Amino acid sequence: MAKDPKKPIKIAFIGTGGISHAHATGFSKLGDQVQIVAGCDIKQEALDNFCNKWGKDIRQYKDWKVMLKQEKDLDAVSVCTPNGVHCAPTIDALKAGKHVIVEKPMAMNAKEAKAMYDTAKKAKKTLTIGFQWRFDHRTRMIRSLIEKGEFGKILYVRVQALRRRGIPNWGVFGQKKLQGGGPMIDIGVHCCEMAHYMMGSPKPVTASGNTWTYLGNKPMNAMCSWPNWDYKTYTVEDLAVGNVRFDNGAMMSIEASFCAHIEKDVWNVQIMGEKGGAVWDSATVFRDQDGYMWNMNSPVLGGGGGSNGLDWNDIFNTKMRNFIEVIRDGKQNIADGIHGVMVQQILDGIYASAEAGHEVKIK
Ligand SMILES: NC(=O)c1ccc[n+]([C@@H]2O[C@H](COP(=O)([O-])OP(=O)(O)OC[C@H]3O[C@@H](n4cnc5c(N)ncnc54)[C@H](O)[C@@H]3O)[C@@H](O)[C@H]2O)c1
Repeated sequence: MAKDPKKPIKIAFIGTGGISHAHATGFSKLGDQVQIVAGCDIKQEALDNFCNKWGKDIRQYKDWKVMLKQEKDLDAVSVCTPNGVHCAPTIDALKAGKHVIVEKPMAMNAKEAKAMYDTAKKAKKTLTIGFQWRFDHRTRMIRSLIEKGEFGKILYVRVQALRRRGIPNWGVFGQKKLQGGGPMIDIGVHCCEMAHYMMGSPKPVTASGNTWTYLGNKPMNAMCSWPNWDYKTYTVEDLAVGNVRFDNGAMMSIEASFCAHIEKDVWNVQIMGEKGGAVWDSATVFRDQDGYMWNMNSPVLGGGGGSNGLDWNDIFNTKMRNFIEVIRDGKQNIADGIHGVMVQQILDGIYASAEAGHEVKIK
């Protein structure tokens, strides 16, 4: 049920490291509609930094179970911990009757993701996944054209989240047991979720893929903008590729890298339909009309450099606003848990196929 709009939504954080500040920034844009009342982190320094920036009276905890027990008035929780610590606090918070926004990827694997989704359903609470790219104007424009049938049947979608040399040199992004994987689960997930959303969220049925590790587990051998990552604890892939088949006959290919021998980084989705197509980064649509092929570009939507579209902060803040509007006003949850489950199935399928050496069924 919608909450009284005059009362602020009371939020607590689990994980107060890097991305929690982007969540808090998004909430701060909503003024007194949101009040951050508590934060939990196993690192005192992260908690102190968070409270120094967002409020000295934010109550500090080291254990989210204690926090959930003591903070009886909480409405919602932002889960901003490493991937391996998404499932447990999300389920505990939902069971304690709190709405949850959990960062991407939803979990380590689809099994965890499904358990989180089922718990939210049972508890009748909102579960939102930190998928901000679906709030980008380009994503919305392409999704709307697809929804109206302007491209006809969607045949093939090419997804790329490629870094030439961009191995995170902070956090635990190189540790498989804490993250579930490397670039496929960490950044491939972003472009995959927006592509899947634009396609209308079809059900994935099979996947094939491969992963390779060849640079991240060795000392840095070439100058780069994120130097000196922890190669000794690096257990994830450098490059992953996959092909996914959906129940409506469409296919998606995904390429994701922390490091690859390519000319430059790519962050893009290309859509090919029977009647039309689009490329996301330059907001360009491809059509045939009156005997000619046309490229229609919308320069105000962003991309291609020097645009007046939304930047990363804007789309992130819109994601945080949507979460509040869902729990307070009953608006549609744009990044619902079920989308997180399907995206996780895609990622799981690619990793499982890489391990098995052949195409696998997605359960
Ligand atoms: N949406 C995005 O664009 C985006 C960007 C960056 C990171 N992320 C996601 O956010 C999550 C966190 O990434 P980050 O960059 O903030 O990492 P980070 O390492 O900076 O912060 C994570 C924090 O969680 C804390 N933590 C770990 N285990 C904990 C536990 N058991 N209880 C309480 N706190 C615990 C750590 O001490 C740390 O302060 C990851 O899942 C990542 O994929 C999303």
